[in-house]
Amino acid sequence: MRHFLSLKDFSKEEILEMIGLARTIKEQAKKKDFVPYLQNQTLAMIFEKSSTRTRVSFEVGIYQLGGIGLFLSKNDIQLGRGEPMKDTARVVSRMCDMVMIRTYAQEKLEEFARYSQVPVINGLTDRYHPVQLMADYLTMIEYGKAENPVVAYVGDGNNMAHSWLMLASKLGFTLRIATPKGYEPDSEVVEDALEFAKGSGATIELGHDPRAAVRDADVVTTDTWISMGQEDEKDRRLKDFAGFMVDEALMGLAKPDAIFLHCLPAYRGYEVSEEVFESHADEIFDEAENRLHAQKGVMVWLDRKRSE
Ligand code: CP
Ligand code: NVA
Repeated sequence: MRHFLSLKDFSKEEILEMIGLARTIKEQAKKKDFVPYLQNQTLAMIFEKSSTRTRVSFEVGIYQLGGIGLFLSKNDIQLGRGEPMKDTARVVSRMCDMVMIRTYAQEKLEEFARYSQVPVINGLTDRYHPVQLMADYLTMIEYGKAENPVVAYVGDGNNMAHSWLMLASKLGFTLRIATPKGYEPDSEVVEDALEFAKGSGATIELGHDPRAAVRDADVVTTDTWISMGQEDEKDRRLKDFAGFMVDEALMGLAKPDAIFLHCLPAYRGYEVSEEVFESHADEIFDEAENRLHAQKGVMVWLDRKRSE
């Protein structure tokens, strides 16, 4: 049995297998052919943080695969009143076939997985957001940006930056990350990425100059400067991130046909300008929709692994 906690745990071949499944299932779904790959299975969805896309895509996804989703907000379950993660895991995994969790520390997710009898999927932690990157990569394929692309990530060295580091270093493409000083990605994640890059041939560049990162890029991406749980740091962060907005001048340095991706929610006038956001709305909302398709690929792949 496998869990989906970080792209760190998967080979390039495995990531591409999940993406392949996602593409097949998407094609079928577009023809209204909802193949019940996970008939009668129950997906528990535990949320310790807010969500629009993750909740809707997992709940609709499991339903379209022939199963049912159970939305468990921390406000409603005993976890929110202090029941330990490991006890929650042992209860929920006896009654459900798969579990998705959105929580704070990656260690809490890992603890849940250790005590779970069924596959566990990371629906975002402070450290990683791997299901988002599966959707982002699917979108890159659809826009013809998956062959040796140069990807520029401008902004906070957060869970999205960490996940891009994992995807690029596993698949072997070029990733340039530009953050303000003091907001670099976690050094352990960078070390892992550099190690994986040795095997895959990826180029990983870290710096503090958004213009250098974006120049001639095929894909430009960013994320909020204030992630969930960092609300108290808002004033300081807004000052420190001055000059890191992806606006038309910055986007103009990328290749003329470059795409812009954003995991959403987006804060216009901060990490991205209104003009850049709206002129790239096609790919941004394809990316959002691809959460549904990519996660179906992940769920079906995990289900198959347990019976192998
Ligand atoms: N991108 C993403 O995970 O969105 P939600 O927080 O709305 O789930
Ligand atoms: N970095 C953001 C991503 C939201 C989908 C956060 O963790 O809040």
